Amino acid sequence: MIFTEILGTGSYTPKKVLKNDDLSEFVETNNEWIYSRTGIEERHISTGESTLDLAYEASTRAISAAKINKNEIDLIIVATVTSDYAFPGVANLLQAKLDIKGITAFDINAACSGFIYALQIVDKMIKGGGFKKALIVGSETLTRLTDWSDRNTCVLFGDGAGAMIIGESKENKIVDIITGSQGDVDMLLYCKNPELKDPIINHISRQDHIHMKGAEVFKFATRIMPYTVTSLMERNNITKDDLNCIIAHQANKRIIDKSAKDLKIDMEKMYLNINKYGNTSAASVPIAIDEAVKTGFLKKGDKFITVAFGGGLTWGGAYIEF
Ligand code: UT7
Repeated sequence: MIFTEILGTGSYTPKKVLKNDDLSEFVETNNEWIYSRTGIEERHISTGESTLDLAYEASTRAISAAKINKNEIDLIIVATVTSDYAFPGVANLLQAKLDIKGITAFDINAACSGFIYALQIVDKMIKGGGFKKALIVGSETLTRLTDWSDRNTCVLFGDGAGAMIIGESKENKIVDIITGSQGDVDMLLYCKNPELKDPIINHISRQDHIHMKGAEVFKFATRIMPYTVTSLMERNNITKDDLNCIIAHQANKRIIDKSAKDLKIDMEKMYLNINKYGNTSAASVPIAIDEAVKTGFLKKGDKFITVAFGGGLTWGGAYIEF
């Protein structure tokens, strides 16, 4: 029987930091509103680094944390909604930048749940016997899709990348992963590509921005996160007392507070770093896991659930022994 485990983690965020007060220079907002409604104090903004650049920095850190040779990697998956090119994918460009020859590499898009989806795919591909060591990355330059005149959304997002090396294992460490999707007929959260009318006549290529019905997404998030965590606990015959911590998608501290309350899990078990990064979409979960490792919040042997939700609408969760 082939099992899987996390061999190493890494993350990277661009240097430029935008504080809440900086935002009040171009939209009608203030630190008090942003912090009390979201828990965000600042976010990192790319001023030139691409999604690939962020992914590369996070990946080299994960490779060195895993203490492997990069040439042992036989699979790369990048989860992103902000690919630098329509094609090739960020994963293919990352493969080239890391100088790894002739392996499988591709991108996936499941918005903020993308990293959990990528984890599920590599887990199955390794357990299926075809691959031994995978690099998975969540990398986003979400601020390029941000409407900087819309105070409802521009205060929420940031840029960054997180990476993980997943390898074959003799022990069952990545125990269970679930994902799901509910087609967003009400268009609660989206960013449209240029419309295809008559492409020869209409050379329209204006980039759309993020649109969100915040309160509706909030309701979905506070329902789906506890549901996902509960499903994982039930499927694996464990209770909250068996878990050392929960590492949730960092979209809004109030969503994490409410989920913890409904799950009757102490907030001390919920990892939080949204104050520093805002919502970094597919990068949020791997950045949080990497920081939890670096700060000692998540230790070797700890059991945890990581959980996310996002555009799609999508969700996903994983029960892991670190
Ligand atoms: O990865 C998944 C992505 N998305 C999410 O997870 C978002 C989920 N939703 C949320 O986090 C929250 O709904 C928000 C943080 C987006 C908004 O918080 P809210 O408590 O739901 O506020 P609201 O949208 O109901 O707005 C309340 C008021 C409104 O003013 P009026 O109509 O009551 O006069 C807004 O116009 O706050 C106003 N407002 C702001 N005021 C100052 C909205 N944005 C701002 C702002 N600064 N940035």
